[in-house]
Order: sequence, then structure tokens, then C-alpha cells
Amino acid sequence: DEIDAKLYEPMRRHTTMLVGGPAQFWIEPHSFGAFAAVVNHCRERGIALRVVGRGSNLLVRDGGMRGAVVHPSGGVFSECRVEDGKVIAGAGVRLKKVASVAQAAGIGGFEWMEGIPGNVGGALRMNAGAMGTETFDQVASVTFLDEDGEIRVRSRDEIVANYRDVPELRRNFALQAVFEGKPDTAEAIQGRWDASRSKRRTSQPVAASAGCIFKNPTETPAGKLVDELGLKGCNEGKARVSEVHGNFIVNGGGATASEVLAVIERIKAAARESRGIELETEVKV
Ligand code: EPU
Repeated sequence: DEIDAKLYEPMRRHTTMLVGGPAQFWIEPHSFGAFAAVVNHCRERGIALRVVGRGSNLLVRDGGMRGAVVHPSGGVFSECRVEDGKVIAGAGVRLKKVASVAQAAGIGGFEWMEGIPGNVGGALRMNAGAMGTETFDQVASVTFLDEDGEIRVRSRDEIVANYRDVPELRRNFALQAVFEGKPDTAEAIQGRWDASRSKRRTSQPVAASAGCIFKNPTETPAGKLVDELGLKGCNEGKARVSEVHGNFIVNGGGATASEVLAVIERIKAAARESRGIELETEVKV
């Protein structure tokens, strides 16, 4: 009961883009020990290994994923609680849940998380952000499985967090984090929550997507660039650049990964040719 597993589990069920072929071994560990056992087993035997959270920043190819796809969920991974004014959350907790647990405890600063479709583990890995705040602005410490197979805790100042990338968590997997905010009134927190939600509702699409596809290059926001290139609404099959925001590719229903990749390539080529800008995907392909 510490592990559930399935063979050839379709990844379109586990990504917000609703795209992707089967995972050869889909494994859901529910305890730190089970997670470590699976990861260490794969490492010792050279079995391909990917850890996947909510799959909101992930494009899985139509051929699927070889080896083990580990999805921390249930048990300690789904626990979220407040202790000494801090929020402790497992890797499998949704960011929206972190925000609402903080709000209920009168801890402010988490409102930007209300619309992020990801889990804590993925948000730590990529230093997810919105509304001018990033995950690591609020991290106090992270518990992770080290490359040598040991579970360790590291404090915020021992971790380098860049824009949408935390190099250390490429091969060390986050298991749990302690987050900090500031005590605030329910009204103030609700106000910022509503502001974040309404900005998101008017500027981002509701259709199935993987969030922003590209990192913002230094020159200009990627969405603005796509917009200026006149590519909003362009499509390959059922994959289409959102009319609402140029940095989102939406699944119009039954899109394939190759269609999404073709749209990505089309945007990259146009940005390169007409503006000399080399776009880099934020989404993991
Ligand atoms: N813009 C356009 N046309 C568009 C889209 C945007 O002209 O189609 C303009 C906007 O008017 C604005 C500027 O581009 O002047 C920036 O747009 P926006 O405020 O929407 O922010 P963004 O830089 O496109 C970033 C993050 C989002 C996050 C929002 C809100 C990245 C790659 N994106 O988007 O994060 O939700 O700010 O804080 O850093 C994600 O990472 O998946 C993501 C969605």
C-alpha cells in the first residue's frame, strides 16, 4: 500500500495539455521510503527514470516514455499543513491547495499560486512563478532525495534558484517543502487572490494547455513576440496558438504531440528569421 503501479499508462491522462503516449511503468509511491526505493532501484539498474507531478509543464511525445515514470502522490506527498506559521507541503500537493491552506491560517503572500496548475514538486524543480513572485521567494527549506540515494533537507540559502530553473533539482528530487509568508488579514489576502484570478482570467486561455510554452527571452516577452509575428490562432491539426495569449498553445481536442511540436518549431523559426531571437521552451519536451 506504499506503491501503486501500472503498465503502459497513457500520459495524456497525466498532463494538462492532454497529450502524450504511454508511460512504460507508471509508478505512484506514497511515502518517502517508497519513492527512494523506486528511484534507487532504477539508478542501480540503469532504467530510464522521470519524475512527473501534475504534468502541467510537460509535453510527452506520441511514442510515450520508456522506463519508469514516478508520480509522488498520496500519503505524505499529499499532506499540507501549517506549523509555527509556516506551510509544510508534500511534492504532490497542488499549489492552489498551498495557497488556500495559507489563506485559512491567515498567512499572506501565496495568492499568486491560486491559478498555477502544478504540484509543489514541479514548482520547486522549475521555480514556477506568476504575478511577479517565484516559488523560491517563499521557500524556507526543501526535503529532497539526493543523488547518492539519501534523503536530506536544505535551507533556502543553500539552493540556487534561477528564472524557471533550479539546477540542483535536475537529479535531486524534491519530496516536501516548507514555505514562508507573512501574517495578514483575510480581507487583504482575498483581495490579492481575486486580483490574481481576474488578471489570469482575462489574459490567459482556459482551454487545455501546458501554461507558457517558452521562457521569456531577455528582449521581449515571448507572448508579445508571437503576437507581433501575427502567429496567434495559427495551428497544426488540433494544436493552436491561443488567441488570448501568444505564449500558450492550446489543445483544441485530440491534438497530438507532433502537432504541438510543429507549432513550436514554426514559432521558433519565425522568431529567429524575423527578429533574430532564439526562443527556448519552458515546457519540458
Ligand atoms: N502580450 C501581448 N500579446 C500576447 C500576450 C502578451 O502583447 O498575446 C503582452 C502583454 O500585454 C504584456 C506582456 O506581453 O505587456 C507580458 O504579458 P503577461 O503579462 O501576460 O506576462 P508574460 O510575461 O507573458 C509571465 C509568465 C506567466 C505568468 C504571467 C503572469 C513566463 C514565460 N510567463 O507571462 O507564467 O502566468 O507572467 O504573471 O515567464 C508559465 O510560466 O507557464 C506562465 C504562464
